[in-house]
Amino acid sequence: MKDYFTLSETAEIVGKSKETLRRWDKEGILNAVREPVSNYRVYRKADVQLLLGDLYDESIDDEISNFVEPENEYSALELFAGAGGLAVGMEKAGLKCVALNEIDKWACETLRRNRPNWNVLEGDVKDFDFTKYHNKVDVVTGGFPCQAFSYAGKKLGLDDARGTLFYEFARVVKEVNPPICIGENVRGLLSHENGKTLQGMISILDEIGYNIVPVQVLKAIHYRVPQKRERLILVGVRKDIEITYEYPKPHKKIFNLKDALKKGVLFDCKVPKSEGAKYPEYKKRVLDMVPPKGYWRDLPLDIQKEYMGGSFYLGGGKTGMARRIGWDEPSLTLTCSPAQKQTERCHPEETRPFTIREYARIQTFSDDWNFIGSIAQQYKQIGNAVPVNLGQEVGYSIVKFLNAYYNSSKPK
Ligand SMILES: C[S@@+](CC[C@H](N)C(=O)[O-])C[C@H]1O[C@@H](n2cnc3c(N)ncnc32)[C@H](O)[C@@H]1O
Repeated sequence: MKDYFTLSETAEIVGKSKETLRRWDKEGILNAVREPVSNYRVYRKADVQLLLGDLYDESIDDEISNFVEPENEYSALELFAGAGGLAVGMEKAGLKCVALNEIDKWACETLRRNRPNWNVLEGDVKDFDFTKYHNKVDVVTGGFPCQAFSYAGKKLGLDDARGTLFYEFARVVKEVNPPICIGENVRGLLSHENGKTLQGMISILDEIGYNIVPVQVLKAIHYRVPQKRERLILVGVRKDIEITYEYPKPHKKIFNLKDALKKGVLFDCKVPKSEGAKYPEYKKRVLDMVPPKGYWRDLPLDIQKEYMGGSFYLGGGKTGMARRIGWDEPSLTLTCSPAQKQTERCHPEETRPFTIREYARIQTFSDDWNFIGSIAQQYKQIGNAVPVNLGQEVGYSIVKFLNAYYNSSKPK
């Protein structure tokens, strides 16, 4: 149960700035105390409740924490690393990346510029041999792009998957033999080829010596991310290990666009200015008519028909089309290109797509994580990423598993 709030959390809960809180502390209106363990300046929950009385919102009191301290130095090998969303999240959870593989030269440049010490292996995963990491890495992770397999027999084996990127993921896991491996993917993998693709992956991991934890789709909004993104997580535990892997627990507090772009609990300043894409003139004129939280249905009927073209008569909600996000809701899933047709996510007050730094914040990258390449390349890297905070929460679950594993395997 959480008994203390940080300065930022308290500012958010009482709806005042940190400066006001510091003044209140001096004036005795709301006194800060030293947190018993870390000695940080914090606020007692009871004091905040007393100050706010009936205005205290219980749902803000998020007592869920997945935080766990690594009891040893743990290492990760990240495949399909992109611009590093998952890798940075795992690093924040205390896992050290020993190597990262990525084919895209701009994404590799992003990784190198931000972390000159990381071992970035640029090129096609199929050209790399990872046997030198055999039994030397604690977790292999990777967001392999989803591809269909061809099914010769009943039960798919590793060799049947040759030529796919999942094959490469499984091949590297086999070469490295870590206690745990984590694949991440889109929800669509559940239904891809009527579920056969996922079943094939599970049977291949089984063949190379891994038990698969029941697959879950994690909603980023439950993991301190102001975006309705979902990620399917595929966890394999080496068959000689009896420790149960547990997914990170979902938080109660849901963050909104305002938490991403303004000063608050997630970020301690307003989003910095940066470059960004623009809508073509016609799209801008249409989106000018859409209110915050609105979409194409909020347009006059004749404009709806004109803008939607054939899609107008096709039925279905299409709630992502001509969509303007509101400050008090999480963003819809960001795509790799912000002005893409049918997936407009317009800024709440200005008729434009989110800028690069706004995109990065919605994915919970910190403002000092730089993306390299053209604007289009940068949007692609950000849109492809696992949100950093989701990566961190998954990272904690790996650390928890590894702590238990190494404790259980210590000589008694
Ligand atoms: C979904 S993104 C991964 C995002 C990353 N996990 C993150 O959090 O930022 C998939 C990545 O796989 C990379 N990729 C695709 N084919 C590859 C290959 N043959 N070898 C290495 N990387 C590849 C793509 O360039 C892309 O950056």
